[in-house]
Amino acid sequence: MKWVVGNWKMHTTAQEAKLLARRLREELYEPELPRRVRVIVCPPFTSLCSVQEALRGSWLQWGAQNCHEELEGAFTGEISVRMLTALGCSAVIVGHSERRRTAGESTERIARKLRRVVQAGLWAILCVGETLAQRRAHRVRAVLTHQLRSALQGLEPQQWESLLIAYEPVWAIGTGQAAELEHIRQAHTLIAELLTQLGAPGHVPILYGGSVTAENAQQILQLPEVDGVLVGSASLDAWQFCTIVRVAALCTSPIPTC
Ligand code: PGA
Repeated sequence: MKWVVGNWKMHTTAQEAKLLARRLREELYEPELPRRVRVIVCPPFTSLCSVQEALRGSWLQWGAQNCHEELEGAFTGEISVRMLTALGCSAVIVGHSERRRTAGESTERIARKLRRVVQAGLWAILCVGETLAQRRAHRVRAVLTHQLRSALQGLEPQQWESLLIAYEPVWAIGTGQAAELEHIRQAHTLIAELLTQLGAPGHVPILYGGSVTAENAQQILQLPEVDGVLVGSASLDAWQFCTIVRVAALCTSPIPTC
């Protein structure tokens, strides 16, 4: 089973999102796909309702790009996991590098959000990854260790089951320059090791993100260390996204029906 998650970022009005989601639903109507791949699209908050409407009853799932760490309260402009659950969301992206950087999200806050998401039984897609300067300074291991430890230490055994990790080297996001396959392989292997050290009771899916396209998806998804992809700009193009989903389905063995 492979995962394909679309991060629509700050794109699509409610109407545009509805059209895109409908198109995905139509194009991906193939009985074999849901046995091989899990698909989650993450539109902006304002488009969640229309995506819910467009995808309800289909095998495609939807999620959010962020949430607040409290369930409700005087937090102007924020959105809680409770609200997202009511909209049928099945996942929330936590700690995306764009939020770490532009919204100044601290590791402590990311840890609190993550707990809130897994407590609600939604998938938490925790994003980790180094910057170019950190890579050049040979600090990949140190950065990933810090990001994973600060977010996951002390997680209850059953909460690990709601976790997905997205390895997204910051220098590969939105640059058109995906990480080299060997770098992805090594980083995913390291993350798997770190997760075991942190007490993961079983396999935690590790996705790769950063300039994934219809062209490079196959090479990346064929790596046994890669359980799926988190796709940004290519997820806004229905043809590219559907191609990536089909490629993911070809790179995995189906789950048995019985
Ligand atoms: P990209 O974005 O595919 O446009 O590089 C990935 C992400 O930020 O999740």
